Amino acid sequence: MSVTDVNDEFGRPLKDLRISVTDRCNFRCRYCMPRERFNEDHTFLPKRAFLSFDEIEKVVRSTISLGLEKVRITGGEPLLRKNLPELISKLSKLDIDIALTTNASLLKKNAKDLRLAGLNRVTISLDALDPELHKQMSDSNISVDSILEGIDEAVRVGLSPVKINCVVQKGVNEEEVSKLVHYFRGTGIVVRFIEYMDVGRTNGWQLGQVVPSENVLNHLQKEFDLVPVEPTNNSDVAVRWAHSDGSGEIGFISSVTSPFCGDCVRARLSADGRLVTCLFASGGHDIRALIHNGADEEILQKAIAAIWTRRKDRYSEIRSEDTAALPRIEMSYIGG
Ligand code: GTP
Ligand code: 5AD
Ligand code: SF4
Ligand code: SF4
Repeated sequence: MSVTDVNDEFGRPLKDLRISVTDRCNFRCRYCMPRERFNEDHTFLPKRAFLSFDEIEKVVRSTISLGLEKVRITGGEPLLRKNLPELISKLSKLDIDIALTTNASLLKKNAKDLRLAGLNRVTISLDALDPELHKQMSDSNISVDSILEGIDEAVRVGLSPVKINCVVQKGVNEEEVSKLVHYFRGTGIVVRFIEYMDVGRTNGWQLGQVVPSENVLNHLQKEFDLVPVEPTNNSDVAVRWAHSDGSGEIGFISSVTSPFCGDCVRARLSADGRLVTCLFASGGHDIRALIHNGADEEILQKAIAAIWTRRKDRYSEIRSEDTAALPRIEMSYIGG
């Protein structure tokens, strides 16, 4: 199939597809899946509603023909999806960059198989090195040590560059920021600090809980000699800084204080086959029905192109009390 690039209403192409393979997670991070809301009363997607790996591959093939360059596998926690390396193996034949975002609790035992299947790189969520704080933030009994072992294994098998995502929350883990920079300096691993976002409607987000990236950077500059790094790609979400002695890089993802919607080239596919055009959307476009009704790649390509060309999302840029009141899908459903 020939490649026909599509642009949305603001001229943004579709370059990056983030694919959620499950809405379940073995953590209950308070900012994402607070336990009192994600408990036995919460209705997770029935597994029979999940797109099969063949169906996901078909969506990716159709999207490549629209100019797609990059795929990221997400969850919930994607390593909870059975036989995930099979999906990676199918996608790796499509000549596209494949990354995975994981909490790393199951990475030690899976990293090698994922690499062998063709996964290029991983991003790991880690908000604290302090064992007690990590336990409190992830609301799980999975130890920091086991996460660090997962990270070591990812490096060992060549899932690089390994990146770490740390969501910074006021009064919660600000002291972990400099510890993380110290710990990963000189390892080739890039730590990125994310401003706490108002994704979903369950985490009780308040602006006062956000630590602006500028404050985090100012704080770090007292301890480290950091120099800015030119972006390689306009659509990169992270602003990069490097240690002046060449011992590594860090990044800041500042969707609250410095939105990056203008260059947003990301679509999201939920585990049950909805195409979502913004992290803060209230819903998605159901393309599973189309797939189940036997649509071939060309029909899917046209359907996805039709959705994308009508896209006008720029939530972070227009965030206000009015937009805050709108319904929003949950991060665990769409994977970040
Ligand atoms: P690569 O460039 O492929 O390494 O990935 P990335 O830099 O896009 O990083 P990643 O996918 O890990 O994104 C990091 C975090 O940034 C996500 O977990 C989200 O919290 C946030 N993020 C990513 N994309 C968006 C977006 O489109 N909008 C907003 N508001 N936040 C985003
Ligand atoms: N704000 C910012 N980042 C979040 N993540 C999950 N929920 C939020 C939120 N409310 C991050 C996780 C993970 C990625 C999938 O998204 O830490 O790294
Ligand atoms: Fe799970 Fe990631 Fe959400 Fe934490 S942030 S609950 S690890 S999906
Ligand atoms: Fe893209 Fe929506 Fe995030 Fe803006 S808020 S960068 S449009 S996903």
